[in-house]
Amino acid sequence: MPDVRLVNVTKRFGKIVAVNNVSLHVYDKEYFSLLGPSGCGKTTLLRLIAGLIQPDEGEIYIGDRLVNDVPPEDRDIGFVFQTFALFPHMNSWDNVIYGPRVKGFDMEKASTIGHEVLEMVRLHERLDAFPNELSGGMMQRIAVARALAAGAKLLLLDEPLGQLDAKVRNELRYEIRRMAKDLELTAIHVTHDQAEAMAISDRIAVMKKGKILQVGTPRELYMKPKNIFVAHFIGESNFLEGYVLKVTSKGTVIELRGGVKVQTTSKDMKIGERIVLAVRPETFILEKDIAKKGENAISGVIERVTFEGTNIRYEVRLENQDLIVVVKPSLTEEWFNTGEKVIVKFPPEKAHLFTYPERGLREEIASE
Ligand SMILES: Nc1ncnc2c1ncn2[C@@H]1O[C@H](COP(=O)(O)OP(=O)(O)OP(=O)(O)O)[C@@H](O)[C@H]1O
Ligand SMILES: [Mg+2]
Repeated sequence: MPDVRLVNVTKRFGKIVAVNNVSLHVYDKEYFSLLGPSGCGKTTLLRLIAGLIQPDEGEIYIGDRLVNDVPPEDRDIGFVFQTFALFPHMNSWDNVIYGPRVKGFDMEKASTIGHEVLEMVRLHERLDAFPNELSGGMMQRIAVARALAAGAKLLLLDEPLGQLDAKVRNELRYEIRRMAKDLELTAIHVTHDQAEAMAISDRIAVMKKGKILQVGTPRELYMKPKNIFVAHFIGESNFLEGYVLKVTSKGTVIELRGGVKVQTTSKDMKIGERIVLAVRPETFILEKDIAKKGENAISGVIERVTFEGTNIRYEVRLENQDLIVVVKPSLTEEWFNTGEKVIVKFPPEKAHLFTYPERGLREEIASE
């Protein structure tokens, strides 16, 4: 149930700075995710909190306690790994009561805890089964049960659903969140899957190259990305390049490539500045070419139509040759066909405006 605080934490492996001056506060009873591409330092950050490795700089607090010099077994944490880390020669029951027994609890107390947590992960009827007789999803539930039985107040999960197929993954993520919430635990969940992080987290930290770029609720990250990488990594964004033409009382007038002019309501840019406009695929409005053009309207041609079930995904070649993606609900919206001329619009307040990155747009959104 403790909160976790990192203050200016750095961890290097030789020349690699795996975690670079990270400060972070995970609140008591929060379900928190570390999200970012492969190699960004998520596992390293989790192992630092667990005490499996030591920081080169900075302090780590669990509750009020500075834990830099506290060994992992004295930190009251449970660790669940991506790979199934159960003892293979022990059945579910022995795996689960291992922690309480090591803690010195007598058999009666260990049994009470064992029954409780196995009920909680709904695997009580499989207590005789050995790990190789369980499915991947079941093994991870036993791994969670084992962490809970050991008395963990802080649950650290490193891609716990990574090895599971899509359907089990979707079910188990809600189950793990429910357990953490029922037991009022603090949970830190590492994933590179933004949909997973969005679905289960109270808040998310988006990481890139050892740094935290933004911390926020799923909604905040989606609605108000602070930078291009977050706009790219959370959900999907179309990036349109251009220059600031005018700053008015209503916002900013942008000239996109090919001389197309559009408006946004943000006002933080200077005239002449090179910018990137980020627009979500579902933010665009698609209309037949007969519509009046009006504000923020760009002509285009549908280049590809993909039926995705819930949504239809259109790739639209704009008049300035930029290719954008537009996503519309398949049940409620009018359909468009390949080759059809359309008008694409977006509300000025729904576009995010960023300064063009020094290193170039492609490098900025690259994971490495
Ligand atoms: N023990 C180690 N020795 C040397 N380098 C390491 C060690 N552990 C991690 N690194 C390096 O630190 C960086 C961060 O690695 P880390 O495992 O934390 O990334 P990650 O975000 O968990 O990636 P993934 O999503 O692939 O698991 C990488 O460049 C990695 O090669
Ligand atoms: Mg990792």
